[in-house]
Amino acid sequence: MSKLWGGRFSSRGMDPDVLKFTSSIGVDKALAKHDCIATKVHVEMLAKCGYITEDDKKKLAEALDELLGKIEEGSFKLEGNHEDIHSAIHSFVEGKLPEEAKKMHTGRSRNEQIVNSVRLYCKEKVLLVKELIKLFQTSLLSLAEENQGAVVPGYTHLNRAQPVLFSHLVVSYIEMLERDWGRLNDASKRLDVSVMGSGAIAGSALKLDRKFVCSQLGFKEVSRNSIDAVSDRDFMAEVLFALSMVAVHLSRIAEDFILYSTLEFGFIDLGDEFCTGSSLMPQKKNPDVLELVRGKSSIVLGGLTSLMVLLKGLPHSYNRDLQDDKKPLFEAAELISEELAIMASLVKTIQVKKETASKAVEDEFLYATDLAEYLVGKGVSFADAHEIVGKIVKHCAEKNINISDLSVAELKGFSEELDEEIFSLLNAGNSIAGKKTEGSTNPDMVRKEIAEWKKKLR
Ligand code: ARG
Repeated sequence: MSKLWGGRFSSRGMDPDVLKFTSSIGVDKALAKHDCIATKVHVEMLAKCGYITEDDKKKLAEALDELLGKIEEGSFKLEGNHEDIHSAIHSFVEGKLPEEAKKMHTGRSRNEQIVNSVRLYCKEKVLLVKELIKLFQTSLLSLAEENQGAVVPGYTHLNRAQPVLFSHLVVSYIEMLERDWGRLNDASKRLDVSVMGSGAIAGSALKLDRKFVCSQLGFKEVSRNSIDAVSDRDFMAEVLFALSMVAVHLSRIAEDFILYSTLEFGFIDLGDEFCTGSSLMPQKKNPDVLELVRGKSSIVLGGLTSLMVLLKGLPHSYNRDLQDDKKPLFEAAELISEELAIMASLVKTIQVKKETASKAVEDEFLYATDLAEYLVGKGVSFADAHEIVGKIVKHCAEKNINISDLSVAELKGFSEELDEEIFSLLNAGNSIAGKKTEGSTNPDMVRKEIAEWKKKLR
């Protein structure tokens, strides 16, 4: 098995420790399929441009097809000590066609090959993650739809703030995920560039058909500057940032479900199949899946940082440092795909505990804002209304009574505009139905949102 380089080096070969240290095969084997497909297109282009014969092309294409088959069925064993996936593919073909293989690498460099394969990988993964986002959104939408009547306290500063529809909260997750979908979609526009023909840095003296390679590989455009083409990793950083945002969102959603499933909150129950027990405490049912989703976001966020630091001080153009750009991206893509699928299934097992949740909105202080807005409706300035209701709350808290325990005379003591009408405001149903703004927790608005999402996600 010969190397892709070697003429300039002594015949002693590479020090085994150096090979182990410099090899990237453990990571870039994930690009086997992409690199193989790209190599086949390269070979076709070489024949088209007259650098290899039709016969060479046919034989090489057959060997590459055989390899693709093996890669797809998972039986491509990476025997031998390979520096990277490009060398591994080369030596497979060389094993079958020693003479023809000598021409396979005509007019290309691994510097461009690796970018090309990573771009193909990103295109594929971005499509997959976008699909999985839709799957998770669809699952969330069912949860929202099935629990349209349920009310929970909405929290700010992790203190009960105002009652909201549970379905309104769930649809807020769908919104977050929609932005993630959009970010990945935006990033994919800059993925669609074919760099082949850039050579190692300066292009090629051979008359290669760049446009042919571009269209055969399904790219939209050909890169303009060969120096930039082999050193640009912005597209990876963008995808990794978009994935990091998904990780942050998944972590926040997981945290909500963890909190809401505790005895302290008690608003939801998680399916047993997504929880685990304690080896010591027989009563425990722990939300481990959600905790791991929350925890593993650190891997993705750490990966983004490591990629950015890797790029920061690099001189132009290609440097071997760039070899370490792939691990964080691949890890993030695999992890996020796994998590989106698992979260989509987990959500299907969520049972909303409507009674516990509605008990949590019985506290009349949660309606203080509704009371202040009622006063505004009566012509009181908002600042005065805020002050009046604040005093009522303070008074009731000190006396340890409810607002509805006050007499009309006592209410009038706070403001002439208050009368028994306000007692009807102090419950979740009226509070929620009383909301008027677009996007609010008003059941009609939420129903409209759900209907729109249903159309969109179909
Ligand atoms: N394994 C390398 C990488 O991932 C491939 C390119 C190597 N190029 C080179 N001239 N050593 O970046």
